[in-house]
Amino acid sequence: MKQLSKREASIYYVKQHMALFACPLCQAKMQLNDTGTMGCSKNHSFDMAKQGYMNFMTKPVATMYSKELFEARQEVIASGLYDPLQQKIAELLVGEQIILDTGCGEGSHLARICAQIPNAVGVGIDIAKEGIIAAAKFYSEKIWCVGDLANSPFQSASFTTILNILSPANYEEFKRLLQPNGKVIKVVPQEGYLKELRVQAFADSEKENYSNIQTVERFKESFAHVNVHRLTYTIPLATGLVSRLLQMTPMGWHIENSEAVELPQITIDVDILIGEGE
Ligand SMILES: C[S@@+](CC[C@H](N)C(=O)[O-])C[C@H]1O[C@@H](n2cnc3c(N)ncnc32)[C@H](O)[C@@H]1O
Ligand SMILES: [Zn+2]
Repeated sequence: MKQLSKREASIYYVKQHMALFACPLCQAKMQLNDTGTMGCSKNHSFDMAKQGYMNFMTKPVATMYSKELFEARQEVIASGLYDPLQQKIAELLVGEQIILDTGCGEGSHLARICAQIPNAVGVGIDIAKEGIIAAAKFYSEKIWCVGDLANSPFQSASFTTILNILSPANYEEFKRLLQPNGKVIKVVPQEGYLKELRVQAFADSEKENYSNIQTVERFKESFAHVNVHRLTYTIPLATGLVSRLLQMTPMGWHIENSEAVELPQITIDVDILIGEGE
């Protein structure tokens, strides 16, 4: 049998999940044809790219996130730095899961979380095309979308879980997208997050300390039954990964002499906020 191209395989996969989609311009249902065009009855249409992702942006947006940043992130995540976080999130998700990762970047968190949950359907959306290209390149059997999480191309009440990891959020949109009894899981940095790097980037400046108090308060106001889990761990960092860690976050770009940086270990310190829709 002829091997399907990346694009053909993605069209085939997305077609099985068309009920999840709604036009981001008029909210009508959409159809995907065999040539990879998804459209609504009002002739708004969006294309499957050759790399295997759907593009829902009507015009390109410039973001501060580059191909190099996402490749560095992918390498750091593959090293296992975020494994305890992914495992904790996977433990929170029981039963059949249709997961939307909002601001998914290069897709590794979603792919690695879904790998721990039998039959999970994973959908990732990010406004940065470079992130989604990297996601589609590495992870198949997922739905990857370039789009705005505040005005998403999805049908209301579609997802059992919405992930929002170290990314901006839009709670009204998240509530619209959640199934009844669905969960929003937002990960926000706590004061020790990448602290070894922070100290080198911002020594003696107020940026050295980070507070997420307002974010946590806003989340608590927006969702019912909020739980907060703090997760803190420090793990050794292989020498070869230091330069990748500096590339994966804008914080690393503030360091002038990056070759002199020594980071034998690195700390992950986050709050995992878990809320339910109405
Ligand atoms: C710090 S990165 C985190 C990426 C990924 N969740 C991770 O932890 O590796 C923030 C991400 O949010 C995305 N983002 C920012 N605004 C967005 C929007 N309005 N819609 C979708 N994604 C957005 C950025 O493009 C970027 O990939
Ligand atoms: Zn439309």
